[in-house]
Formats: sequence, structure tokens, C-alpha cells
Amino acid sequence: MKLWGGRFTEQPNIKAWEFNASIGFDQRLAKQDIRASIAWAKALARANVLTDIEQQNICNSLTQIEEEFEKATFQIIASDEDIHTAVERRLFELIGSDAGKLHTGRSRNDQVSTDFRMWLMEQIQQIDQALEGVQKVMITRAEKDIGIIMPGYTHLQRAMPILISHWWLSHFWPLQRDRQRLFQLYQRTAYLPLGSAALAGTTIPVDRRMLSAELGFQQPAPNSIDAVSDRDFAVEFLFCSALIGIHMSKLSEAVILYTSREFNFFKLGDAFTTGSSLMPQKKNPDLFELVRGKSGTLLGYLTGLMATLKGLPSTYDKDLQEDKVPVFNAVDTLLALLPLVGDAVDGLKLKPEVMLAAIDPSMMATNLADYLVGKGIPFRQAHHLIGEVVLMANNRGVGLTELRTKDYQKISELFESDLYALLDPKISVERHNVFGGTSTQAVEHQIKHAKEEIISITYNNQETKGEKS
Ligand code: ARG
Repeated sequence: MKLWGGRFTEQPNIKAWEFNASIGFDQRLAKQDIRASIAWAKALARANVLTDIEQQNICNSLTQIEEEFEKATFQIIASDEDIHTAVERRLFELIGSDAGKLHTGRSRNDQVSTDFRMWLMEQIQQIDQALEGVQKVMITRAEKDIGIIMPGYTHLQRAMPILISHWWLSHFWPLQRDRQRLFQLYQRTAYLPLGSAALAGTTIPVDRRMLSAELGFQQPAPNSIDAVSDRDFAVEFLFCSALIGIHMSKLSEAVILYTSREFNFFKLGDAFTTGSSLMPQKKNPDLFELVRGKSGTLLGYLTGLMATLKGLPSTYDKDLQEDKVPVFNAVDTLLALLPLVGDAVDGLKLKPEVMLAAIDPSMMATNLADYLVGKGIPFRQAHHLIGEVVLMANNRGVGLTELRTKDYQKISELFESDLYALLDPKISVERHNVFGGTSTQAVEHQIKHAKEEIISITYNNQETKGEKS
């Protein structure tokens, strides 16, 4: 049974048919397709297109079809072009020709976008949960590891001592922004296309507002032409997922570096490493490498769909069928990867003594400049003077703590013996006590802040909308 055979005289080319069909992947939209059809049948009944009996008959059978999908007993057959066709074909099998009334006033163009949006709105919430899971790991690590000092890097060169808790939380906030972005995307996705029909809107007087509320949307899409072709939600989702990928990649890259023998700051838990088939001594951070690798794939999904959309004219074109696979893949990738990253980070062992030993006093030279600033020297000049201190130490082949107070005083008389305290990593860390800084007090405050923020995103999905509480 095809949905559109009336004007055709020849059989379709089998290969072309298979090429055209999307049932292989869009059956993932079965639940949404059926729920949208149930709501549509009710809207048709309200518009007096279906009798109450017909409507109930259709809805009961649709519910049965939904159960068949849930139990995986639904049989897809070769002539099912896509999920919409498959459901309608099955409805015919169950109730006969009344099934043909369901598609009144609708097109697969508004149907597919409706289903896809409904599906994505559910998945956004799943991904939000998964992101929150990783955020919680970061908070737990920050609390557990408080007091442990590590070298902080810029340009991958040793820069300044920081608390590792501060570093863990530096991976918390990007995820908070990801969650906010997804939340906003949810709002933009929640426009109902149904009622737009092929492109011009339906002739049936359906109440699209009521339909929208019934299906968990926030409002009907305001322009039928836009509604059937708009895939911004898919693009935006792929952007969100690419960026989440980048955030995970950044974390992974650091873990890969820090677990290498050269850094030796972290030790990977056995449960999250893999051996080498050749070299018996190897313990590889494959998981983090794959996460880094998959972030490239996620970016590819985004550029792929944008390239597809770029050449399209207005309204529905079959190219749009290409929207689903990248989004499905991105969702699957994120839902697999995020909990694993959380667990693997949770299982990392730290080597505080190695991290501390990697901090040399020159990393605190800026503290000495600030010291002179405290004594009235303009920062630029202080910076220059400390440069001279570093040069003197380098020329003698010693560290900053090995120069004597007298040596310092040759460069500036303002130096006194209290300068050495500033070259102590612990003291250095505690002096960075600004909001958002790395001191224990600032980081403890940040942990509290993070705990407040983490709960601020909630989806109130009881029918109509996701609301920020
Ligand atoms: N399988 C199609 C898709 O995913 C459904 C919409 C088809 N519409 C049409 N007019 N052929 O985009």
C-alpha cells in the first residue's frame, strides 16, 4: 500500500524505492508519530470531519499499534516507505477504510517535522540529565580533592599554581552553558507544525492551539510555509552537541596528557583503560581518546546538515529527510559518552606529590611583581624588575628561592625577607582570593554556587512546556 499511487501507471524501481525510503531509520519516531496522529484524530473529530465513533476506533487502534512498537512485534513490510506510511498501513489492516480518514488535512511534511520535534524535545531532557550527571562528578571531585595543588598551564607551559578543585570546576561551567543552550533550544523547538499541511495550512478548521497544548508544544508554528521547512531546531541541536563534544574533548585531552608518564599527575582506573595487543606494559586512555575523536564526528554532523540546508528553496524538499540520521547519531553518541566520561573522571586517581613537585618557584614570579606593586611600584615597572630577578637566577642556574634577600635588593631596595612566602605554592594559591579565583575560600564559594546553579534548570513537561523555575 502506497500513500500516493493514484496517478502512477508503472511500478517503482526497486532500488530507487529503497533509496527513497526512510523507514530504516525513522521508525525511531514511531511513538511520536502515533501520539501526534491520536491528537490529530481528536482535532478532526472536533472539526466534525470524523464522527466520535470513527475517532475512537482510530485512536484505539493507534494505541494498539503503539503497543506493537513497544513490544517490538510491529512488522515492517517492504512497501512501508517511512514511519508515517507504516503506521497508516497498519491502521488499514486493523480497521479498514476508515483509516483513510486520518490523513485528512495533513501532509507528511507537517507530520514529520512534528514527530521529529517531539522526539527531540524528549531527548533534550535526557541529554540535560546526562550533562547534569557529569556536572555532579565535577562537584564531587572538587569537594573531595580540595587542598590539592597542581600546576596550571597556559600555552601548555607551566604558568601558576592552582587548586585542582578549581580546575575540576572549570569543566563544570561549560556544561552549565550547554544545559542553558539546550533549554533555550527546547523553547524554540516547541512550535507545532501540524496544521500546516503540505505548505499552505489546512482547509480543515482545526484548533491548532489546542492541538499544540495536547502534544506538549508551547504554541503552533506561526507560518505554514516556514513550519514545513524549518530545521533550525535540528541544526541548533547539532551545534549544541558539537559544542558539548568540544567541551568533553578538552577535558579528555587534559586527562590524556596528565595520565602520560611525562606528566604523571593522574592515574587511570583499570576499569576505564585498555591494554595494547603488542606492548604488555601499556595502559591506554582509549576512552578519553575516543571521546576526543567523536567530538570531530559530532562537528561533522553539524556541518553536514547545514550544507544540506544551504541550497534549498522554501518549503519541503526531500533533502530534508537527511536531517534525522545525524541528529539520531548525535543523541546516541552523547547519551553513551557523557555517563562514561563522568564515571571515568570519578575513577581517576591523583598524584598530589607529583603535581606539587612540578611547580617551580618561577611560576610565582607574578606574585613578586604584585609585591612590588603593593609597595607603590607601577605594575609595568615591577614586571620589568622581576624579569631582571628571573634573569639573575637563570644566569646563576638557581631558582628564585635560592637567591638571597640581598640579591633581590640589588634589583629593588623594596624587597624584604618576607618575599619568600610568596614563592610558596600554598600561599600563592590562597592569595588569589577574588570571586572566581583559585584560593580555597573562593573555590569553596564556587562549589556552593555550582550546587545552586545545577538545579536551576528544570523541565516542567506536564503537557505544555519546559519552564525555568
Ligand atoms: N520521510 C520523509 C522525511 O523524512 C517524510 C516526509 C515526506 N514528505 C513528502 N512530501 N514526500 O522527510
